[in-house]
Amino acid sequence: MSDYFETDEVVKEYDSRITGRIISYIKPYKALAVLSLAALGVSTLGELFIPVFIRRVIDTVIFVKDRAPDFSLLHRSCVILFLALLGTLVFSFVHVWSISLIAQRVMRDIRLALFETTLGQSSAALSRHPVGRIVTRLTGDVETINEFFTQVIGSFLKDFAVMVGVLIALFFLSPKLALVTLVTVPPVAAVAVWSRVKARDAFRRQRSASSLVNSYLSERLGGVQVVQLFCREQQSATEFGTRNGELLDANLGEMYVYATFRPVIDLLCNVTIALVIAWGANLALSASLSPGVLIAFISLITMFFTPVQDIAEKYTTLQSAMAGGERVFKFLDADERIPDAGEASLSTSDSPILKRALPVVFQDVRFAYKPGEDILRGLSFTVKPGEMIALVGYTGAGKTTIINLLTRLWDVSSGRILLGGRDIRDVPLASLHRGILPVLQDVFLFSGTVRDNICLGLPLSDDEVERACRTVYAHGFISRLPQGYGTVLAESASNISSGQRQLLSFARVIAHDPAIVVLDEATSSIDTETEGLIQLAMKQALAGRTSIVIAHRLSTIKDAARILVLSGGVVVEEGTHDELVARNGVYAKLYRLQYSEE
Ligand SMILES: Nc1ncnc2c1ncn2[C@@H]1O[C@H](COP(=O)(O)OP(=O)(O)OP(=O)(O)O)[C@@H](O)[C@H]1O
Ligand SMILES: [Mg+2]
Repeated sequence: MSDYFETDEVVKEYDSRITGRIISYIKPYKALAVLSLAALGVSTLGELFIPVFIRRVIDTVIFVKDRAPDFSLLHRSCVILFLALLGTLVFSFVHVWSISLIAQRVMRDIRLALFETTLGQSSAALSRHPVGRIVTRLTGDVETINEFFTQVIGSFLKDFAVMVGVLIALFFLSPKLALVTLVTVPPVAAVAVWSRVKARDAFRRQRSASSLVNSYLSERLGGVQVVQLFCREQQSATEFGTRNGELLDANLGEMYVYATFRPVIDLLCNVTIALVIAWGANLALSASLSPGVLIAFISLITMFFTPVQDIAEKYTTLQSAMAGGERVFKFLDADERIPDAGEASLSTSDSPILKRALPVVFQDVRFAYKPGEDILRGLSFTVKPGEMIALVGYTGAGKTTIINLLTRLWDVSSGRILLGGRDIRDVPLASLHRGILPVLQDVFLFSGTVRDNICLGLPLSDDEVERACRTVYAHGFISRLPQGYGTVLAESASNISSGQRQLLSFARVIAHDPAIVVLDEATSSIDTETEGLIQLAMKQALAGRTSIVIAHRLSTIKDAARILVLSGGVVVEEGTHDELVARNGVYAKLYRLQYSEE
């Protein structure tokens, strides 16, 4: 968890590659982007037009000395002003609407890309990215990119256009007076630079404080029962209190930057206006400046300062987006998929794998989850077509690892696994996964109906589903559920028992009809009646298939054609139950320890 949060600290203030990458997501929405830019241009022109036009009205309609008042001109001017205001409003709406639309679509695209990338990742890659972290990336980090669009790109362009436009308008109206307004530019720039440094530091402090709070929360709340059982409430509250206090300080620090920055900019804005009024009044009195120009100056200067006031906040948004974007793109770029032989050869040469029982051969397989920590050290064994073998070994011997390798959740470090004489790495993943079905120790059921959980996307008829369930004795309990096959399983299927979950997993095997089944027998203890049912169901599910069963029950072991005893990363003994007991080796010892009480 920690390294996820550490990336907050190393991120650059501004990274043009990240910005470029974010912007590249606009490509599919070019038309909308053009519309947005055009609307921005028009609304900015409108905003600048209004004070300039008011100036004209004041000077040519109101303050006219030698002419009779022209009311029709005044009315016309009012109509023009009204239309200009309305137009500005409409275009400004179009701008905000279109940029938000782009931002939302880009977010959707990035979320989808992240999700698809995650689903395709090898287990090796996934083991380095805890699920919680990926979820944060999908939600929080993508949201920072949204803010980047709406608050940074959208308003940055607008602010820039307004500021440049205001300067042009000022020099156009009165170059002399415009020079006066430039006097305050250096202090404004100085304050902006100061605030940028302060905002950056405050932002970093705030981020690290908030990530400390988050990680502490998720850990303690995740383990809330342990906290309760070991009476750690008081201590946890104290520890949380410290981190919470730090977050408060960091937040206040950030607020402090905003709270000082805004009034200082306000002050500078008013000083500029005061200078303009003082200087402008002088000019006006000496008749070298019209009153309209003076009034236009005041509103233009206010317009100039408005974007400056928001700089500190926008800077923080930019920082978050850089951090968020960096994490999102790092994850997308680190794409480590399971190498797939591809779909190309699926149709013809691989179809036998889907249907026929094939021999499974492990040839001198070596494997380590982490370099240097070998779990399997030259494992070799053969399972004949249609044969059921049992794998036994002490806990941690690498039994589940064998399933992970055969299903290619992980790939062997060296050696080969052959399926019908063919290296499984040369078999397209899709057909491999259709041919081999693992039944895991903990049956994973999705929230959805019983039916959906058995089909898992296969287009099976209700009859087929029911037949599969009858075969493995699951029909009985399913039909007693409130909505039968339509009963919605709660999250992690907590509304059915663990024995029932296992029956469902056998129904899946029948429904999917794989040629090879690898079964990690559940260790959870179940009442003897259900136990007997599960034994029967398993026999049905495995009948006629090549199967490797990691056996935890004596009855399963005795049913197996052969038993392989795994120890030290290799098969140390092989044979039937009676043979192995007679041999009085590792198996005999294991048997006395684990199974004799049965
Ligand atoms: N994803 C993983 N990353 C790193 N090490 C792992 C991983 N999965 C398992 N291991 C390690 O590999 C070894 C073998 O684990 P495995 O799950 O294959 O044991 P097992 O024989 O199935 O044990 P059990 O009977 O308890 O299920 C263990 O020492 C375990 O710590
Ligand atoms: Mg295991």
